[in-house]
Amino acid sequence: MCGIIGITGGEETLDVLLEGLARLEYRGYDSAGLAVLPATDGGPLWRARAANGTRSLEDLVKRTEDAPPGSSTGIGHTRWATHGRPSEANAHPHVDCTGQLALVHNGIIENHLELSDELVLAGHHLESDTDTEVLAHLIESELGTHPEAGLVGAVRETLRRVRGYFAIAVIHSGEPDLIVAARRVSPLVMGLTETEAMLASDIPALLGRTRSFLLLEDDQIAELRPGSIRVTTLDGTEVIPPLRTVDYDLDAARKDGYPDYMSKEMHEQPMAVANTLLDRLLPDGTLALDEVRISDDELRSIDKVFIVACGSSYHAGLMAKYAIEHWARLPVEIDISSEFRYRDPVLDSRTLVIGVSQSGETVDTLQALREARRWNAKVLVISNVVDSSMTREADAVLYTRAGPEIGVASTKTHLAQITALEILALYLAQTRGTLYPHEAREFLDAMGALPDKVETALERAADVEVVATAYRASPSFIFLGRHVGYPVALEGALKLKELSYLWAEGFPAGELKHGPIAVVEPGTVVIGVATRTHLWEKMMANVAEVKSRGATVVLVANDGDEETERQADAVLWVPETHQLFSPIVDVVPLQLFAYSMARLHGLDVDRPRNLAKVVTVE
Ligand code: G6P
Repeated sequence: MCGIIGITGGEETLDVLLEGLARLEYRGYDSAGLAVLPATDGGPLWRARAANGTRSLEDLVKRTEDAPPGSSTGIGHTRWATHGRPSEANAHPHVDCTGQLALVHNGIIENHLELSDELVLAGHHLESDTDTEVLAHLIESELGTHPEAGLVGAVRETLRRVRGYFAIAVIHSGEPDLIVAARRVSPLVMGLTETEAMLASDIPALLGRTRSFLLLEDDQIAELRPGSIRVTTLDGTEVIPPLRTVDYDLDAARKDGYPDYMSKEMHEQPMAVANTLLDRLLPDGTLALDEVRISDDELRSIDKVFIVACGSSYHAGLMAKYAIEHWARLPVEIDISSEFRYRDPVLDSRTLVIGVSQSGETVDTLQALREARRWNAKVLVISNVVDSSMTREADAVLYTRAGPEIGVASTKTHLAQITALEILALYLAQTRGTLYPHEAREFLDAMGALPDKVETALERAADVEVVATAYRASPSFIFLGRHVGYPVALEGALKLKELSYLWAEGFPAGELKHGPIAVVEPGTVVIGVATRTHLWEKMMANVAEVKSRGATVVLVANDGDEETERQADAVLWVPETHQLFSPIVDVVPLQLFAYSMARLHGLDVDRPRNLAKVVTVE
């Protein structure tokens, strides 16, 4: 997955591209590049590429004096490598043999090998190891055969031959005001002003330039010219997408004086939870969801729930399983999206499939939900991004209102997801009659205390740092939990490994004795979620098992719990809350621990190596 951007009709084309690319870095930062067209027909296009992401690209562009003056059309790309290592040669834009055409791509061309064999046989010279480059040469070839169809005709014919996913933008020096864009599965939005037309992988990349957006759907092609956008389908039928106005605040995506996005976003967690809870209870006692196109009768007829998600969103889903089963008395299966899609799951119209996705664009989850719809299951999406691909296709949507999240490791959106899923669990319970409305209201009222408890947990950041400092030399960590503490342990381990690159693994505490305990030896650091739940005693028995084998034990414990403290080498304190809500609070010190550990190791917490925030490849 990568980020793409393009603009035509502007005056500061290079600046717009560089600024947009910097905002798209969360989608990948292995390398970056841009290409602009000269102001006059037929001149050569100008391309700059850097192997080390958008900052080095910016330096490169500033150092170079040969950029064409007055260019008003250009495209840019920030890369998360899939095919071909991160290098300048593999950085986009890719050009054709003539050097007149440049193309950027986000996605994967699955049949690129057979296409490239064919192109090489026909005499094309391919320079990179990417799957993308074939597109530039196929378009070149079409333009040679059917010049009368122009760039848009050549792109259309090329895309008919391609298998896989793409969001592309193409420019050609023979048509200097034009950008041709197209999409299948990978996200692409377009913005419009009176004199400009632009495109990007997401809306924030273009905010500040416009508030008027159009969304390109699958297998549509757009022709962007200064002040106008024409959209057609792959077979050439014209479509008129609605113009949408967004009211996001760009400032919300800046750091606000914090050293990095991650700490800013962790400190926004009380607000993210509070906003997600806000106004959910209607005067008649029912819960308000966003965009519900499933009737209460349909919800009552549901006999099974599937949750599909990836990464931290998967852990949020795992936490919610306990709440939905307990309150709504519905069987819940949870699966990692990329596994769900290919395992022939048993679904029908009485199945509710809940997709959990911060971005609403993760391709594994998007395709899993499409598979669910194919079986007539009802699809409900929990997402942080309004109008994302998943939310547009869902039967119902419950938005997390966390605001834009830039740090690659999810924090505030993770807490907001758990909150939203718990609200959903209560809604299902109430609709299905497994909880009385007054009971659902009592639980919802109790959730009102969560933002303050999260705030209290965050105020302990300095104490957590002391603990992280004490164990900074440990090469590996084991995380343990039971019941809802188990997904908290999984999330703690994921945060630590993705940010600090240390080996960390989470286990159900009761499972340890069936294998993992073999790796415990004197000095192994074990981090346990030992807050007060009905399984606290059993959890402490598992803690005793690792202690007796010499492990060093760090426990997440409720404030004032001296009994737990006595069993620990160090404690991460959190306020006590209802067991089913406890993940929202208990995960906070583990986020802080991973954050401190990464900083102690001198690592960039916002841009962990090899990762990207939005993953639009399978
Ligand atoms: C990437 C991110 C993770 C995120 C996962 C799922 O791997 O680095 O932080 O949890 O994708 O993303 P989603 O947008 O679907 O929640």
